[in-house]
Amino acid sequence: MHTRTIRKAVFPVAGMGTRFLPATKASPKEMLPIVDKPLIQYAVEEAVAAGCHEIIFVTGRSKRSIEDHFDKAYELETELALREKHTLLETVQNILPAGITCLYIRQAEALGLGHAVLCAQAAVNNEPFAVVLADDLIDAPQGALKQMVDVYRATGASVLGVETVEPSQTASYGIVEVADWQQCQRVRSIVEKPKPEDAPSDLAVVGRYVLTPRIFELLAGLGRGAGNEIQLTDGIAKLLEYEPVLAHAFTGTRYDCGSKIGYLEATLAYGLKHPETGAAFRELLRRYAAEQ
Ligand code: UTP
Repeated sequence: MHTRTIRKAVFPVAGMGTRFLPATKASPKEMLPIVDKPLIQYAVEEAVAAGCHEIIFVTGRSKRSIEDHFDKAYELETELALREKHTLLETVQNILPAGITCLYIRQAEALGLGHAVLCAQAAVNNEPFAVVLADDLIDAPQGALKQMVDVYRATGASVLGVETVEPSQTASYGIVEVADWQQCQRVRSIVEKPKPEDAPSDLAVVGRYVLTPRIFELLAGLGRGAGNEIQLTDGIAKLLEYEPVLAHAFTGTRYDCGSKIGYLEATLAYGLKHPETGAAFRELLRRYAAEQ
């Protein structure tokens, strides 16, 4: 029986991250920092804020840095304690709140996002779960995932996080066509990376999903799709044949940190509001702007 609680969040972090080479040669792009925290930590904090207790990472060749990041660091903690760096010690110790467990699953080959999610099947089992793509950094009241989990709780239906994009950008996203349904938007169709002239709308799926476990059997039955990968979008297209799937346009700002310019914009936005850097960074920007 499915509960209306989302306890588990899956973080696919096994992509190649080619757009950030050479930074991603030995470390996943999800470890890139925005000011002083890696993308993956923002994402885990969002999942915890949404009520998730089990964090499931689907990792690839360079999983060590993520595992180390969420693990206890005895040497570092001893050193910080010796130097009486109490605030930093607390920061390091609180990366993972108490009561949250982490699990690591290896995706042996980067066969696509759908395949990465399928790799988490045994860990998720027969319950609804969240999928979070950490390279979509979302600054949102309560967190975008919490907003979506609330929709799931009210409806029991899978929920996709969506955002309106420039029509010229549709080829970078899964695009949905929606219809009004019980004060929500029900997905009528979904297509992976359509050219602007073929796109059914300008509503793009971004890296947040709440899915019912039926997705696993559907993903398992799929062949390779676009880009010769097993696409999550194709699994969701199948899911539509069996149950309602909702699109939720969350309140908040998304930064596409999988692209260089989106990453720089996020650094700008988070740097400006960071208590330690905000004022000095604003001054720096003013100086740069004056010099142009
Ligand atoms: P992307 O489409 O952004 O691909 O993956 P990528 O390989 O990470 O980056 P580029 O395009 O080469 O620069 C979307 C998400 O799915 C994960 C990625 O880690 C990212 O979070 N993913 C993708 C996997 O976990 N496994 C895969 O086989 C593919």
